[in-house]
Amino acid sequence: MSEDKIKELIGSAYEASKNAYCKYSRYHVGAALLCKDGRIFTGCNIENSSYGATNCAERTAVFKAVSEGNREFEAIAIIGYLEGKEPESYAFPCGICRQVMAEFCKPDFKIIVAKSVSDYKVYSLDELLPESFGAENMI
Ligand code: THU
Repeated sequence: MSEDKIKELIGSAYEASKNAYCKYSRYHVGAALLCKDGRIFTGCNIENSSYGATNCAERTAVFKAVSEGNREFEAIAIIGYLEGKEPESYAFPCGICRQVMAEFCKPDFKIIVAKSVSDYKVYSLDELLPESFGAENMI
């Protein structure tokens, strides 16, 4: 995956983070999911006064893509920061989002956690969710 494509994804994730509905945590998260066909779906976190009903940015992006017929994914970029501040740490996907990624993505799916277009780390799904539970466990 080219560095330019990574920077494009981080930029898209940052744009999406501006739409975060995060009135309870004030923590903005944006995600940009790259499909194998080149399409990019973005997502932000969408909170709820009943906190458990909150949806993370990564799942928003995956669900948008799947609901529009896309199931083959190459990479996702994620950026998170407290409102009014610069990203101060890498925003790693939560456990539920990792499990949702595992449903649709191969072990070499790339997860890019970014503070900016020039400060990021790249992991594989397998690194962040080893020995995961999946459909193959149920046969
Ligand atoms: N959040 C995400 O959007 N993605 C994650 O992987 C972790 C957490 C959101 C949920 C909530 O709106 C805020 O960050 C604070 O937990």
